[in-house]
Amino acid sequence: MSRIAVIGTGYVGLTTGACFAHLGHEVICADIDVDKVDRLNRGEIPILEPGLDRVVEEGRASGRLTFVLGAAKAAAQCEFVYLCVPTPQGADGSADLSYIEAAAREIGPVLPADAVVINKSTVPVGSTKVVERALGRPDVSVVSNPEFLREGAAVDDFLHPDRVVIGADNQSAAVRVASLYVGVPAPLMVTDPASAETIKYACNAFLATKLSFVNAVAAICEAVGADVNDVILGMGYDKRIGHEFLRPGPGWGGSCFPKDTLALIAIAEEHGYDFHLLRGVVAVNNEQFARVADKVLKAAGGAQGKRIAAWGLTFKARTDDLRESPALEIIGRLVDAGAEVRAYDPAISRPMPGIEVCPDPYAACEGADVLVVLTEWDEFKWLDMDKVREVMASPRVVDARNHLDRSALLRRGFTYQGIGRS
Ligand SMILES: NC(=O)c1ccc[n+]([C@@H]2O[C@H](COP(=O)([O-])OP(=O)(O)OC[C@H]3O[C@@H](n4cnc5c(N)ncnc54)[C@H](O)[C@@H]3O)[C@@H](O)[C@H]2O)c1
Repeated sequence: MSRIAVIGTGYVGLTTGACFAHLGHEVICADIDVDKVDRLNRGEIPILEPGLDRVVEEGRASGRLTFVLGAAKAAAQCEFVYLCVPTPQGADGSADLSYIEAAAREIGPVLPADAVVINKSTVPVGSTKVVERALGRPDVSVVSNPEFLREGAAVDDFLHPDRVVIGADNQSAAVRVASLYVGVPAPLMVTDPASAETIKYACNAFLATKLSFVNAVAAICEAVGADVNDVILGMGYDKRIGHEFLRPGPGWGGSCFPKDTLALIAIAEEHGYDFHLLRGVVAVNNEQFARVADKVLKAAGGAQGKRIAAWGLTFKARTDDLRESPALEIIGRLVDAGAEVRAYDPAISRPMPGIEVCPDPYAACEGADVLVVLTEWDEFKWLDMDKVREVMASPRVVDARNHLDRSALLRRGFTYQGIGRS
């Protein structure tokens, strides 16, 4: 078993560290956030991620998982160092590598001889070279090992991935990294670094394309009077298409798709290719936010003096991540138009600017002219809709996730509008 340092204890880093400890490795996780490290050392999990508490607790109890402040402290003792720091969108849309470079500069002087540094952050083609330069350590190999986990299912995705991709120029470093995944039942492929880095961006861009495509199909369904739920079911039975990621919604968001699509457009541009297909995918997504906000305002009969109840704030269910959440994007448009928004989300209780965050879903609906469902939390399906109708000013629902039972709502006297179906 190996000694692994994981730099960055966010959604990817904490999952990576805890899961490698679960697989039997000795893992030291490092962060620069003092509060986060303190909380982790007290056994608290700073994020909502199903099952993560159990693997972290197991790792701490076995002594195989520890947390320290600062990358250098962790890296000095480990033969493998995973970089799991942010790669946010830069001013021109390309990925900002400053966190990666800062972490690499910090660990360069302290790494043991022949260590392997691994990029798990999503980074553009050529980033292994950037890390090599920042490390300043010719004896250390740099490998790309992109992460494909989904928030809300991160632990399961890490331990049972569809594949593990390792991009390396140095074959022995690739084999050493591959050995860390013994016990993970998944196809493992070794490529050159550029291909590994491109696989990650191409996957996210393709998934975003699928979502924008189905949202465009939903718009057509509304225009021609078709029901998108039937259309996607019929499409999904085609094995070449599949059912996954074929659900219309309020638009895609989250911490990855928005920045990764723009980064791939920027990578393409830098290398002389105009990725206008992907620019269209992004444009369709921005239109979707506007379409959903318009739908809500139409249902409310305008914005001024109207109260809107919103169920869901996070970018998807089973996470507390609000980064680039479509729900926030749409609520922002409603508030800008002059409406009052009261919201409920099972994972969010802290105050948010411009929104009254309510302690329960019924309180959010009090006096509301319309209820909009923006995140697909399971519990929204099982609420007492008679009670909801009683507290609302008008029983109107815009279901931006096609999540609630339309017939049951119509029976109870609600008006209902979904996406791609009336
Ligand atoms: N979140 C996802 O679903 C997901 C999935 C696949 C890939 N990724 C990629 O993984 C990377 C990390 O994403 P995330 O969502 O985990 O980010 P995050 O913001 O949740 O976590 C990043 C952590 O790194 C820490 N950090 C920053 N600089 C540091 C340094 N020098 N030393 C130690 N710690 C440092 C931050 O304090 C933070 O805790 C990004 O490149 C992202 O695109 C994310």
